[in-house]
Amino acid sequence: MKDIIGAGIVFLALSVSAAVAPVFAGDADLCLDCHEPAEDWEGMSAAEIMATAKDADIKRHADNQELSDEQLQVIIAELLQE
Ligand code: HEC
Repeated sequence: MKDIIGAGIVFLALSVSAAVAPVFAGDADLCLDCHEPAEDWEGMSAAEIMATAKDADIKRHADNQELSDEQLQVIIAELLQE
């Protein structure tokens, strides 16, 4: 009986995280169009990535200027997790 309740809780937790995760997935895809975070940003801190993402000297980062600092932070944190 306990096992059934335990399995139920695990299942519930999985479905909740699966439902929440895609909320920012569309934004993170923006960087993934051009980047492979694990390779491109290896050894960089979140702050360095953030600063580079906002670097207007990189012409292909023009779209990034439209994102707020908060949005960028969320995207970068998510990409660094993977
Ligand atoms: C349209 C393509 C494009 C998109 C979209 C893009 N970048 Fe870039 N990014 C570049 C280019 C081009 C460079 C320069 C690469 C080089 O000089 O080797 C670069 C460089 C960087 C670098 C420096 C390290 C490196 O890879 O050279 C970081 C960090 C970075 N981008 C972060 C981001 C983040 C974060 C996002 C999403 C918010 C993003 N980029 C979206 C094209 C893109």
